Amino acid sequence: MSFTVAIDGPAAAGKGTIARALADHFGFAYLDTGLLYRAVGRKVLDADQPLTDTVFALKMAQGLHESDLLRDDLRNMETATAASAVAAMGDVRKALVSFQKSFAKRDGGAVLDGRDIGTVICPDADVKLFVTASEDVRAERRYKELSAKGDDTSFDAVLSALKARDAQDAKRDVAPMVQADDAVLIDTSNMSIADALAAAVDVVNKTYKSA
Ligand code: DC
Repeated sequence: MSFTVAIDGPAAAGKGTIARALADHFGFAYLDTGLLYRAVGRKVLDADQPLTDTVFALKMAQGLHESDLLRDDLRNMETATAASAVAAMGDVRKALVSFQKSFAKRDGGAVLDGRDIGTVICPDADVKLFVTASEDVRAERRYKELSAKGDDTSFDAVLSALKARDAQDAKRDVAPMVQADDAVLIDTSNMSIADALAAAVDVVNKTYKSA
């Protein structure tokens, strides 16, 4: 039986942490859909192609392999910015739809997080969450994460990259980041990870128990 949890929200809101923990808790599979766009963006950067080259980005998306998602350079700011650029291309998005849709429908349940999961990829998801937090809180979390990994950056640089990326993701024509009408909002600004997870588990339990 399939059971789909769709989680959307802006950058560094805690979606990934909640999604992974929910998947563990319920024994569901987990897909971080941002990694797909990050892997495509990374390939464009590696090939020194401009981030406006739709034809090249599409070729990279069509040739994407699961091993491309395992690279350790997908989480830096340069890759995030490239991901947001290729994610604004309708053809790139189309090339990645069927993989995401079939992952969502797999037997045993699935959690997917991204920007358009509850609106475009899984409009009929069993549970939809929109996870957010204030810009300052999100930038602080991402800054700490990047610094811990040895990235030489500043809070201000992280905040302005995050704002630019959110604006691009929310304002694009295709599949913009937006809260689905039937998504439950979780604002993690003043929540611990444990509190945020408990809130998410509560929401899922309401539907899962009756599924
Ligand atoms: O979730 P993330 O920060 O790793 O995503 C990186 C970029 O990929 C993000 O800025 C927008 C894009 N993205 C998207 O457009 N749709 C998704 N479902 C997931 C990510």
